[in-house]
Amino acid sequence: MTDTAQYDVLVIGSGAAGLTLALHLADNLRVGVISKGQLSEGSTFWAQGGVAAVLDDSDTVDAHVQDTLDAGGGLCNEESVRHIVGESRDAIGWLISQGVPFTRERREDGSESDDFHLTMEGGHSHRRIIHAADATGAAIFNTLLQRALQHDNIELLENRVAVDLITSNKLGRDGHRCLGAYILNRSTGHVETHAARFTVLATGGASKVYLYTSNPDSASGDGIAMAWRAGCRVANMEFNQFHPTCLYHPRAKSFLVTEALRGEGALLKLPDGTRFMPRFDSRAELAPRDIVARAIDHEMKRLGLDCVYLDISHKPADFIRSHFPTVYERCLSFGIDITREPIPVVPAAHYTCGGVVVSKNGRTDVGSLYAIGETSFTGLHGANRMASNSLLECIVYGRSASSDILQQLATTDMPENLPAWDESQVTDSDEDVIISHNWDELRRFMWDYVGIVRTTKRLQRAKHRVDMLLAEIHEFYSNYTVTRDLLELRNLALVADLIIQSAMLRKESRGLHFTLDYPDLLDEARDTILQPPSADD
Ligand code: FAD
Ligand code: SIN
Repeated sequence: MTDTAQYDVLVIGSGAAGLTLALHLADNLRVGVISKGQLSEGSTFWAQGGVAAVLDDSDTVDAHVQDTLDAGGGLCNEESVRHIVGESRDAIGWLISQGVPFTRERREDGSESDDFHLTMEGGHSHRRIIHAADATGAAIFNTLLQRALQHDNIELLENRVAVDLITSNKLGRDGHRCLGAYILNRSTGHVETHAARFTVLATGGASKVYLYTSNPDSASGDGIAMAWRAGCRVANMEFNQFHPTCLYHPRAKSFLVTEALRGEGALLKLPDGTRFMPRFDSRAELAPRDIVARAIDHEMKRLGLDCVYLDISHKPADFIRSHFPTVYERCLSFGIDITREPIPVVPAAHYTCGGVVVSKNGRTDVGSLYAIGETSFTGLHGANRMASNSLLECIVYGRSASSDILQQLATTDMPENLPAWDESQVTDSDEDVIISHNWDELRRFMWDYVGIVRTTKRLQRAKHRVDMLLAEIHEFYSNYTVTRDLLELRNLALVADLIIQSAMLRKESRGLHFTLDYPDLLDEARDTILQPPSADD
């Protein structure tokens, strides 16, 4: 392959959002899908619980909308919520038509019925989570990937890291349009120029900005950072969701214990076996995540604990093993038999509720540039995402952005004569320790100062440190050849800054943003929208 490539549509990201979009376009267009590591690298592959949708006849769109609004702390955009929830049945129908093997109900004799099993998670007033046991993300990813591999019009490229978007205004051309992206080919070490009529950011979230996270390494907020540098607005970055229950074990890196366990009756307990959630919320273990994570954080700090415990051992062992085979096996590999004993758990950063501001069709502020999935801000999640609404958002926006692209085709030409990446001024770094040191420092102060409970003083400290890191990283980036680690650090530091700035602007406690200096809720719920300095270029 040469150092240049051309696609009708360049999709940066091979998770649920990117693959859905690619599959909807590939009958008409040539689509390139890139992933910075293996194709399975994103969060999608690790999703456990399932996809929220209105599938049961006794459930309603209104009920799903209302639950989402309640979990979102008054900040969701009701129109977006209605749009996404209204599309949920069709979205699931499409996944089933692609072959996703969702779990079916079992009859009393143990045989499978035609109906799908629906589980329960926090904030939902109804059983509405369709799932593939406790490995829903892998089932969706593997199915969509197989479909994409069968399609001649889709080119799937691994080990390609998008560095930055190419925009017309930065090249001194007319308008403010995205023309493609510079992509680091990790096999050759060279930065390639990928031209595209349309570019789609489907890069997932940014939870890797925190020291402890349920997310895979890919979640470094690259899409949000690239969009910001290209001139897109970014919203509600202060709302990073902490999942209440990640496995606490020295050898378990980022292993989530699905909320569906609580949906099926698991209880949160202190080391002495007493429950504590009823003291915090009448919904107890099934309260929305912000409430559960804060309650755990409170109890851990109050009692000086390293973890709390999630206990499902009162349920029949067969039930546990068949509903939660992944969690069962993984815990067993660490010597914890969940059919007999409680699971040690702690909260960890899990989901980026804010992101790149998009329209109902996934359009960003820059022409020919779309953002879909966790990297985008659609207004669905408000101040706290309700469980299992994110995969739904990926599928719905993968479809709606693809329809919009098809409508824009006639008026959007292929960019010509894009300049090559200039490597003439940089050399190989001989001080990679700076990158690893800054990674650790950034993630630790974000955890300590911008975590579950915040104060103005802690945010000011974090702002001071991130400003210093940004300057240091900028200098490093200007002088040395780019690598995946350096690019991720550059993006993480920028995203950390956006999170801190947004948190400092919010003078109240709402949903996932809780600060001791402003513990009350303001009367009016407002999004925090940040405008990039380059937006008027
Ligand atoms: P991802 O699936 O994260 O994919 C991102 C892609 O972008 C990857 O291919 C990555 O390589 C690529 N990428 C990133 N940056 C670059 C770059 N610079 N260059 C090139 N490629 C790049 N949600 C639910 O609704 N239900 C659940 O049950 C659920 N369980 C979860 C469990 C876990 C452990 C985790 C971590 C998340 C869970 N979530 C769940 C959230 C949900 O999985 C994610 O929000 C969703 O999968 C995001 O999909 P995506 O397509 O936007 O991005
Ligand atoms: C889980 O299974 O607990 C994760 C669900 C989600 O993040 O939506």
